[in-house]
Amino acid sequence: MTLRFPFSICSPLPPNLASSLRRRFSASTPPAATALSFSQPPSSPTAEHLNPLFLRPLSFTASRSDLLDFRRWAESLALAAAPRLSSDGGPGEDLLRRELAWMLEDAAADPGVGAVRLRVELEELYRLWRERIEERRPLQYIVGCEHWRDLVLAVQDGVLIPRPETEMVVDLVAEVEGFEHGLWADLGTGSGAISVGIGRMLREGGRVFATDLSPIALGIARLNVERYGLKDKIELRQGSWFEPLRDVEGKLTGLVSNPPYIPSGNIPGLQAEVCQHEPELALDGGADGTDHLLHLCQGSASALRSGGFFAFETNGDEQTKLIADLMTTRWAKLFHSVKIVPDFAGIERFVTGFRR
Ligand SMILES: C[S@@+](CC[C@H](N)C(=O)[O-])C[C@H]1O[C@@H](n2cnc3c(N)ncnc32)[C@H](O)[C@@H]1O
Repeated sequence: MTLRFPFSICSPLPPNLASSLRRRFSASTPPAATALSFSQPPSSPTAEHLNPLFLRPLSFTASRSDLLDFRRWAESLALAAAPRLSSDGGPGEDLLRRELAWMLEDAAADPGVGAVRLRVELEELYRLWRERIEERRPLQYIVGCEHWRDLVLAVQDGVLIPRPETEMVVDLVAEVEGFEHGLWADLGTGSGAISVGIGRMLREGGRVFATDLSPIALGIARLNVERYGLKDKIELRQGSWFEPLRDVEGKLTGLVSNPPYIPSGNIPGLQAEVCQHEPELALDGGADGTDHLLHLCQGSASALRSGGFFAFETNGDEQTKLIADLMTTRWAKLFHSVKIVPDFAGIERFVTGFRR
């Protein structure tokens, strides 16, 4: 099996590099939808606590020279650590400088004269940057968000940071005839990224059931669903894979999943930001990484209606071929038009097809 680690769980780009490209890209796109959605007041005290840094109130101040001192200190800490971090696929000097700039962008507002206003105390910025460099805590967890498609999604420790290649799942759904009015399932929704992406395209009658075993993931998914005003389109359900979907068995227009697919033995060798901070529940796919994928393939036969569509993300290449082979041989009576779809990097990433 070809392994793409330790850079990311599923991308040849390190997650931090991928997000750096994304953030730059997103910054240049009109922020209308995201800014509008995120400007809504939080619906509960819990939601307030989970809010990304850039949404918190500007409750603190610091002098310009104190902030400059912080910046100098943070840069020197990053420069000294860069060779160590990049040795396992982590960020190098340039990316760390950009991450620092983004953190400050999210944390501070400069009125031009007088003191700088901050969303956290200056001491907290020191603590957060130490966590980034010394503990390798991903920047996305520190600032509490990730840019994905044209969305800005809340994330927190305990929830997988959505990856750029997964964006394509939403495009695969959009190609299905009549998808807008269908019943969809996003199994293992994590931050709710795929569900929000699909939910925004749905019309009359269209609905997504977003499931996850993790209550932490569902809490964040709920926040993202609410922020984007999709409560009437996306229903969150807790449980293992198909268990929470018994009432819609055989009725689904389509189902999608980016399940845990990393072979267990490869997890300790992943980039520290991934293996030390992202949830094992979101990564570990069993001995060869296919435990959950195989379960999902088999369960799809009962969950989908006749003609229903499925799309699964995999670890790529050989894992993709294995799943596609099974669906066209052992389960050929259940599925048709099974296809392997490459991601933007040309890696055979997705298996798609239809229920007979
Ligand atoms: C690779 S992550 C994908 C998250 C999100 N869909 C994305 O693409 O960013 C896999 C998700 O599956 C969830 N998961 C793991 N085991 C599960 C199970 N038995 N039933 C439901 N969800 C599960 C994890 O909690 C995690 O959120």
